[in-house]
Amino acid sequence: MRPDRTSQSQEQLLRRDPQLDQTIRPRYFSEFIGQTKLVENLKILVQAAKERGEALGHILFLGPPGLGKTTLAYIIANELGSRITVTSGPAIERQGDLAGILTSLEEKDVIFIDEIHRLPRAVEEILYPAIEDFAIDIVTGKGPHANTLRLKLPRFTLIGATTRMGLITSPLRDRFSFHARLDFYSHEELLSIVKRSADILEVSINADAAAEIARRSRGTPRVANQLLKWVRDYAMVKAGGTITVTVAREALEAIGVDEKGFDPMHRKILEIIIFKYGGGPVGIGAISAAVHEERDTIEEVYEPFLVKEGFIVRTSRGRMATPEAYRHLGVKPAGGKTLFDA
Ligand SMILES: Nc1ncnc2c1ncn2[C@@H]1O[C@H](COP(=O)(O)OP(=O)(O)O)[C@@H](O)[C@H]1O
Ligand SMILES: [Mg+2]
Repeated sequence: MRPDRTSQSQEQLLRRDPQLDQTIRPRYFSEFIGQTKLVENLKILVQAAKERGEALGHILFLGPPGLGKTTLAYIIANELGSRITVTSGPAIERQGDLAGILTSLEEKDVIFIDEIHRLPRAVEEILYPAIEDFAIDIVTGKGPHANTLRLKLPRFTLIGATTRMGLITSPLRDRFSFHARLDFYSHEELLSIVKRSADILEVSINADAAAEIARRSRGTPRVANQLLKWVRDYAMVKAGGTITVTVAREALEAIGVDEKGFDPMHRKILEIIIFKYGGGPVGIGAISAAVHEERDTIEEVYEPFLVKEGFIVRTSRGRMATPEAYRHLGVKPAGGKTLFDA
């Protein structure tokens, strides 16, 4: 038996969706729905590495939260039959922390660093030789007595994940041999995910209700699963356990998730841009102050879907609401025109 080094960090990572997540998180490529092209390419990389008996090249996952970056990291390790050590950028504070992890790796192990854009700069610097030359330089002593000791590392695979491509330094970005970008999921894919999760959780749900949940999931599997779980609880308490489309709608409205899947914060952001700033352009800092939410959270969690759905656009002068946003909030732009009509 191989020691299981993942359990503790895995628990930490899964805290966001406790229990639920552990049973429904896909473990193999065959269980993973969507991202078809990307998955095909990952399968090729995995198979080639296995056939050559070599460690897989380093992979960087990019994309908004909840789309499956962590899931794919685990799947890759599983499919390789490799051990995986899990950590995150902010968890590694000092060079020594990372050196400790790296020196305990074995040949072909996978190390997964979530939120890799948040690695402290000094730590990032020892990561460069580690992933490029499989070596780290350790400085011992101080001043004139300082010595550099080069430690060889086994050939391992780094998998990084980030929600913010723009915040990854280029030396780090360039050292990954494969960039894997995840996109929002289609309605059909989300529907399959809702059905699969409902099966695993033994939740009985009709096709229309499953479609309603999928439609309001903002293209995001994590949201689909969270909404399913909420609807299940709501149906149990309020409707004798049967999930019909009416029950699903009622349940989702009860938590303020509208037909587009926007929750109150999405609408608040649109309202601020439209009512307080006349449709924009307005800087992210001003939006953040007005809605009392961290700027990073707005950029990482809320904005990508609003942009993807065409409700706001990012310009060099700030964010602007589109006519679609006005329509969604049921308001007419001042003078019957938006800045887009000008
Ligand atoms: N393609 C998929 N098929 C089925 N479930 C998925 C898929 N991608 C993600 N999930 C589910 O959504 C949850 C969030 O995925 P995760 O990998 O944690 O996202 P990320 O790391 O990108 O934030 C997972 O727990 C998993 O259950
Ligand atoms: Mg993750």
